Amino acid sequence: MIRIFPTRRRHCALLVLCACFELAGAKDVPLPQPLKASHVPAITREALDQARPVVAKHAMVVSAQHYATMAGVEILRQGGNAIDAAVAVGYAEAVVHPCCGNIGGGGFMTIHRNDGENLFLNFREKAPAKATPDMFLDAHGEVVPNRSTDSYLGVGVPGTVMGLNTALAKYGKLPLKQVIAPAIKLARDGYLLQQGDVNILNDSVGDFARHPNVAAIFLNHGKPFVAGERVVQKNLSHSLEQIAVGGSDAFYKGAIARAVVAASEANGGILALQDFADYTVQWETPIQCTYHDHTIISAPPPSSGGTTLCEIAQIIQPYPFAEWGYGSVEAVHYFAEAERRAFADRNTYLGDPAFVKNPIEELLSSAHAEKLRATILPDKATPSAQITGHLGATEGDHTTHYSVVDKDGNAVAVTYTINFLFGTRQIAGDTGFFLNDEMDDFTSKPGVANAAGLVQGKVNQVEPGKRPLSSMTPTIVLRDGKPFLLTGSPGDATIISTTLQSIINVIDYGMNVQQAVNAPRMHQQWYPDEVWIEDGMLTPQARRQLEAMGYKFTMIHAMGADEAILIDPKTGRREGANDRRRPAGLAAGY
Ligand code: GLY
Repeated sequence: MIRIFPTRRRHCALLVLCACFELAGAKDVPLPQPLKASHVPAITREALDQARPVVAKHAMVVSAQHYATMAGVEILRQGGNAIDAAVAVGYAEAVVHPCCGNIGGGGFMTIHRNDGENLFLNFREKAPAKATPDMFLDAHGEVVPNRSTDSYLGVGVPGTVMGLNTALAKYGKLPLKQVIAPAIKLARDGYLLQQGDVNILNDSVGDFARHPNVAAIFLNHGKPFVAGERVVQKNLSHSLEQIAVGGSDAFYKGAIARAVVAASEANGGILALQDFADYTVQWETPIQCTYHDHTIISAPPPSSGGTTLCEIAQIIQPYPFAEWGYGSVEAVHYFAEAERRAFADRNTYLGDPAFVKNPIEELLSSAHAEKLRATILPDKATPSAQITGHLGATEGDHTTHYSVVDKDGNAVAVTYTINFLFGTRQIAGDTGFFLNDEMDDFTSKPGVANAAGLVQGKVNQVEPGKRPLSSMTPTIVLRDGKPFLLTGSPGDATIISTTLQSIINVIDYGMNVQQAVNAPRMHQQWYPDEVWIEDGMLTPQARRQLEAMGYKFTMIHAMGADEAILIDPKTGRREGANDRRRPAGLAAGY
């Protein structure tokens, strides 16, 4: 039974004043503009109650685009395992979900193998060798608007192709030519648009029109595409065919790299052929923590995702969320306060581990969680200006997540991105794929918000070869050592909130996985000092109570898109949930 909106009133205890913390250079920032693609109708209580997952006996794929899901299912049916299918979905999404799926960006893959091994592959973009900490500042030291998002200076060296191919070579069963074939076919022959696809394309038609080589693909004779029309991507199919034959070298050492570098040089960028030749991916040890007898396996730095998710989980664990219920004043208050503190730590202490030391052990220690809990006032919001990194002084929905479980119990959760919707909204020459603007995830200037509204610190400043701090959080939750829930999301810093709320919705509130991903969400990221909520998260009465405690709420049309799978521990059946916020997405299995 779901425990939603209890009518029980909170009783307020007398508070003990928390320690006051000094703010390290942060300031309030405007909320990023909501996206047109996010205009998803609010869910009613009745619709949430009735939501049910797609069920399959053996295997399941869930992604934000139905053709990509079916590419994964096709590969599973051909004898591939979850890694083969995840690579097939990754390449297919680069074709049919071009806002976010990509070969021009990067991401992370969390794997649980059926022999019990947990793995994490880091294929995040790297800064080019000519990158400098002040490359996004003007002569007066001020951030130049849009330089890190709309220009070739915003492009990091892409990691997706090497990431997918590395995972396949190590743990897949099928050859690259076979798993990339559905993507090539979708690009060459085209795919039919659903309204959900069109909504996303509509966000950027103005940008498409600015670049003739982009307009030739993503506008229909100069006009926006409508549902039912076909998008054909011959150039992308040619790039994918080169990768199918030449593997990663075709991308990093061949004509594709040359085309990207030429376009970069022609447009004021700093990418060099050597940056592509030097690019590497990295196997890392995943972040691990426990939450109510479940083991959470998630993303380590250069993602902040797993660390921040686990830090929030550790802070809230002793509170009776199950008793309080979803959307209750108490649960919202303690979740927001835990987030505020964990995000202050995130923005202060985390960066690429190849360049900076990440104090993971301290941040995830029970002593640290205890210390932070002691600063939470029972009946009052703590102003963000009173919070700073807690270890001592030192700092849109543009991504996509998918999940795969195979018949043998291998589980793969992938989140990858080109940052903004359609990245820089630019395609190099005739390569056919959008380039990322991941350099915006670095700190352009400490204390000044990036496009995601994140106020970050020096540890995440630009350096040559460094990977920008991410919030991507592909996560696998284990119960009794076996995969139980695969979760993750797009949405910049809100990714962490979305992912953890899906976990809480299942574990604490007893929701099925479809309800868990459909339920309205909330997010607090330290700065701005407000809580973002989706319609339906709070009753008017709960909202009034929380506002009286000092909370300021900002409505968000749609937060994240969790493409999740739950494996029933008793029956082993796979339950897939496509997030209602991605109507073109699909859960399918066999
Ligand atoms: N580009 C969004 C993230 O990596 O967090």
